[in-house]
Amino acid sequence: MKNKRLFSLLGLGFLALIIFGVFSSQKKQESAQEEVKVGVLQYVTHEALDTIYAGIQEGLKQAGYDDKRVTIDFLNAEGDQSKVQTMSQTLVNNGNQVLVGIATPAAQGLANATKTIPVVMGAVTDPVGANLVKDLEKPSGNVTGVSDQTPIASQLELIKTLTPSVKIIGILYSSSEDNSKSQVEEFANMAQTKGYQVETYAVPSTNEIATTLNVMLDKVDALWVPLDNTIASAFATVVSVTKEAKKPIFPSVDTMVAEGGLASVVIDQYQLGVATGQMVAKVLDGEKIANLPVEIFSEGKPVINKKVAVELGISIPEEVLSSASQIIE
Ligand code: TRP
Repeated sequence: MKNKRLFSLLGLGFLALIIFGVFSSQKKQESAQEEVKVGVLQYVTHEALDTIYAGIQEGLKQAGYDDKRVTIDFLNAEGDQSKVQTMSQTLVNNGNQVLVGIATPAAQGLANATKTIPVVMGAVTDPVGANLVKDLEKPSGNVTGVSDQTPIASQLELIKTLTPSVKIIGILYSSSEDNSKSQVEEFANMAQTKGYQVETYAVPSTNEIATTLNVMLDKVDALWVPLDNTIASAFATVVSVTKEAKKPIFPSVDTMVAEGGLASVVIDQYQLGVATGQMVAKVLDGEKIANLPVEIFSEGKPVINKKVAVELGISIPEEVLSSASQIIE
């Protein structure tokens, strides 16, 4: 009788222990799996930036932050500077733990809106020139991220190989993007040392693209376009106006080559996004910004639009075709 009581008491004790154990382990799991919030501001819609955003989600997932664990608060400013400001403020106010700016103007908006919440740059060409970080190796503020540096030397080599008769290159870019300023300067300097004449044409917005092109196409043999968001977002206009003039366009990203550019040497946009997402994950894991140097992508691969080459009567050498990572037929 006594033993029976003892057993049932012991049994109850075990039961209590098991229940306690289950609950506390569940609680532990919950805190390990605690939901995190990441705010993403994309500057404008164009295919390259959309691809980078897809890459960011993949990078987060690869680092263990799938959509069950992370809530992404996504906004797109559609190229509107006043929206960049209000949306940056919204993302700060929404209690996001990390903010991501896709393209320079978006990263700048976020960096202006907070000096405390970490800001990760997604594909910012010139973080120093854009006043986002002082030292790429050792970020000192709340900003770090991924930088895409146009492989300008290889692009110029490709221009020479494909269109040896080109003497005057016209650059079309947006006057409001800090990312374009440094690329234009670098391209112009390098092209001039290689014997080209360079004419630069800056547009204040997409509205002036067609009229500017009409002026410049009379004066140049070929167009070069940097990693410029304004031009990328209205690239269909660039292609249709330039088509009539039968002059080649050398853009700086594969999506613009696919839309009607002739060729380029380009950085993989999806990989830029994946690297950005992985860096966001490190910040979420608790890594300090100061320990996260800016990751630089500067190696490019050739991409050729064969269809455009045929339209322009340009024959692409076999070795260029065989070295291309992407051929658009
Ligand atoms: N690097 C650009 C910036 O700093 C953003 C960008 C990434 C981009 N990929 C692009 C712009 C392709 C034009 C085309 O803002």
